[in-house]
Amino acid sequence: MNYSGKVVLVTGGSSGIGRAASLAFARAGAAVMIGDVDERAAETVALIQAAGGQAAWQRTDVSSKSQVEALVAATVARFGALNAALNNAGILPPPRPFTEVAEADFDRTIAVDLKGVFLCLQAEIRHMQAHGGGAIVNTASVGGVIANPNMAPYVAAKHGVVGLTKSAAIEYARAGIRVNALAPGLVRTEMTEAWFHTPGFMEAFYAGSPIGRAADPAEMSGMILHLCSDDATFTNGQVFVIDGGQTAI
Ligand SMILES: NC(=O)c1ccc[n+]([C@@H]2O[C@H](COP(=O)([O-])OP(=O)(O)OC[C@H]3O[C@@H](n4cnc5c(N)ncnc54)[C@H](O)[C@@H]3O)[C@@H](O)[C@H]2O)c1
Repeated sequence: MNYSGKVVLVTGGSSGIGRAASLAFARAGAAVMIGDVDERAAETVALIQAAGGQAAWQRTDVSSKSQVEALVAATVARFGALNAALNNAGILPPPRPFTEVAEADFDRTIAVDLKGVFLCLQAEIRHMQAHGGGAIVNTASVGGVIANPNMAPYVAAKHGVVGLTKSAAIEYARAGIRVNALAPGLVRTEMTEAWFHTPGFMEAFYAGSPIGRAADPAEMSGMILHLCSDDATFTNGQVFVIDGGQTAI
């Protein structure tokens, strides 16, 4: 895939899936702008620049409308365009049975994982509408397609991301904007690292997983780059589950 001359915005590019996708976009020739609350975004930028690519980052809390709007403006100011976006920043609340979920954990998960995607879509689409279109991928989860136990706020937020994806996709297809969702299964990142050290947890997970392992973050990048590319010009409003077969059982 050739992203030469393209500008891509990635939220949550400090680590995990967002960092891997940022590196992949840059390797394919894109200029990458990262929005993240974590200053280790600078490390992702340094990795890209060390490999000869173009990247920058701006501290952004995706739950803040003004910060998200400033991020899109900064992307265009720095690189002159916004052709594609990966709305990927997310958090995982502490695992709790449904009736024991703290209201504050519910509110923060919805603010970051759902409202954050909503705000990013609004700002990105406004720009793309006025500048010839674009392509957007939202990082949902298998938790956006099925329910995982003890993760009600996350499951609700990720199902909401699927709803936002479909809503934006059908409203802006004729403006040349495609919006799709990625639904990863278990990926070994900072978000899930503790699970790998929880006695019995991974054994139980692997027993129910056809592929019997977690994904590396880089295993998400191929689908993300495909969906944002001109190889996918008729692909819109869909959810792409990348889970090693977990939800096929
Ligand atoms: N790891 C998995 O198994 C898995 C599975 C399905 C979906 N996902 C989703 O993938 C996305 C990326 O997660 P990951 O696994 O790479 O985890 P991660 O923790 O490595 O990355 C999450 C990134 O989001 C950033 N972030 C958190 N809150 C933010 C905020 N308010 N504003 C801006 N940035 C913020 C973090 O700093 C970090 O860079 C998330 O949306 C997550 O829900 C992950």
